[in-house]
Amino acid sequence: MTDLTVARTRADLAVARGDGAVSFVPTMGALHDGHVQLLKHARPLGDTLVASIFVNPTQFGPGEDLDEYPRTFDADLERSDEAGVDVVFAPTVETMYPTGTDTTVFVDPGPLGSVLEGAVRPGHFRGVLTVVAKLFGLVRPDVAVFGEKDYQQLVLIRQMTQALCLDVDVQGCPTVREADGLAMSSRNAYLSPVEREHASVLYRALRAGAASAPDGPEAVLAAAHRVVDGVPVDLDYLTLTNPDLGEPAPGQEARLLIAARVGKPRLLDNVGLTMGSG
Ligand code: PAF
Repeated sequence: MTDLTVARTRADLAVARGDGAVSFVPTMGALHDGHVQLLKHARPLGDTLVASIFVNPTQFGPGEDLDEYPRTFDADLERSDEAGVDVVFAPTVETMYPTGTDTTVFVDPGPLGSVLEGAVRPGHFRGVLTVVAKLFGLVRPDVAVFGEKDYQQLVLIRQMTQALCLDVDVQGCPTVREADGLAMSSRNAYLSPVEREHASVLYRALRAGAASAPDGPEAVLAAAHRVVDGVPVDLDYLTLTNPDLGEPAPGQEARLLIAARVGKPRLLDNVGLTMGSG
C-alpha cells in the first residue's frame, strides 16, 4: 500500500480531506472494475480523491439483501489504493445516523422516487438521497462521480443537488460491462452459472432496442421485448424515457431502461439512444 488514509470518523475525515479541491466516489464497497472506472474518472478532478465505503441500511427494504450484501473491505482498500484514492471514508452506522436509522429527517425524492426502481423498492431512493446528502455534508466534495448503470439514481441525485442548492458538480460515468455485455454490479456475485448466462439478455435486449431507434419508440420496445421473450428472467420493466425519465420525444435523446430478477438478484441496465421520428 502507498499512503492511503482510512478515515472512520467525521474528525478523521475532516483532517484527511485537506483544504484543496475534493473529488468523491460514494460506494457500498465490493468494488469491481465499474467502481475502478469511477475512481479513475474522479482522480484528476480534485487534489484529493475520497471514496466512501458504507452499506447504507436505509436504502434496503424489509426482506432485501442488507445482511448478505457482499463485504470485501480489505480487497476494496487494495483496489482503492491502486486506483489512486487518497482517503477511504468508512464510517459506522452510528456515525452516519447519530439519531438512529428511524430518524425523522429524510430527503424526499419527489414523484420520480416512486416510479421504476422506486415502484419495486418503496423507500429505496429516500434512503439513497438521504445518505448521499449526508456524505456530501461530511466529505464536502467539489465533484462527485456516479455510474450510469443506476441511471434513475443518477438523475435523482442531480435533481437533489440542484433542489437543495448543494454546491457539488455531479458527473455520470458510462457503464462498464463484462465481455458478453452484462453490466458490472456487486450483485452479479449472487448469480449461478446458468443465471449468469441468462443475465446477458438484458444488454442484448437494450442493443436490439437501440438498433431500432430510427423507427421510433414502438419499434424500440418491440425489438427489445422480442429478445427478452422466452428467456427465463422475471422482467420488472422495459421502458423508454427521455434523459430526465419523462416522456421520450421524436428526434431527441432518449434512455431505454430494463430491470429484471434473474434468480435471486434484480439486475438493472440502460442505454442512451437518439430517437427517429418513427
Ligand atoms: O450506488 C451505490 O452504491 C449507492 O446507492 C450509493 C450511491 C453509494 C448510496 O449508498
